[in-house]
Amino acid sequence: MVAASPRTAAAPAARVIFLGPPGAGKGTQAAKLAAHLGVPRISTGDMLREAIARGTELGRKAAPIMEQGLLVPDDLLIALVRERIAQPDCRRGFVLDGFPRTLRQAQGLAMMGSEGPELVVFEVAVPKDELLRRLSGRRWCPTCQATYHVTNDPPGRPGVCDREGTALVQREDDREAVVSHRLRQYEEQMAPLIAHYRERARLHHVEGHRPVEAVFEDLRCLLEARE
Ligand code: AP5
Repeated sequence: MVAASPRTAAAPAARVIFLGPPGAGKGTQAAKLAAHLGVPRISTGDMLREAIARGTELGRKAAPIMEQGLLVPDDLLIALVRERIAQPDCRRGFVLDGFPRTLRQAQGLAMMGSEGPELVVFEVAVPKDELLRRLSGRRWCPTCQATYHVTNDPPGRPGVCDREGTALVQREDDREAVVSHRLRQYEEQMAPLIAHYRERARLHHVEGHRPVEAVFEDLRCLLEARE
């Protein structure tokens, strides 16, 4: 079997959106797919956490909202993503992780320009008990934002980032009480968003309760099948 290799700069890429509840593996798969396609991964959660760490105005507004597991206002997110995807590295496409999350954000994204590669949307589904297991075991590097799991994907040295040597932390919003708010938010927002993309993009439902590589293989095949 021939191993899958990352795309060259000349190969067609895609504009990809990941939808799915907290812990579905959007960030994990988005990072792998972005590397495979050779396009940037744009994680609004990571951008907001970085803004909080740097103490910017956006970070000061977002921090108390994120601590409660609520959504940061649409206008702030739309402006953040608009600025990011206008950068030259997004010309061949991008992988969006965590945006859009509301119908208004999806409409905002559509207004950012229809040029570029086709829009492909992956809706990743995972049962709730598995989501809770993943979120409670997730650990995160505050320096490079790499994600680990204490049992599924542990670092080489317990509690330490393989790349940076930084002490891993648990995300504030992975605490049990906050997770339940985040899951509820997702359930409330997602039906209209999925209906929206069913009419306007290539939407694929992906079973996410499988090993990381098996999920990735499906994503890769689905993207290649459209070419
Ligand atoms: P964000 O950072 O986007 O969090 P989320 O959507 O809740 O998603 P998560 O990062 O929790 O999960 P994931 O699906 O990426 O899973 P992961 O790959 O890490 O948003 C955080 C907050 O920011 C929001 O609550 C909101 O306040 C704000 N925000 C962000 N964007 C916003 C927007 N557009 N509008 C408004 N507010 C916004 O995996 C989870 C764990 O499982 C990891 O430990 C991983 O190692 C493990 N894992 C992954 N895949 C597998 C697998 N196949 N099998 C076993 N384990 C796995």
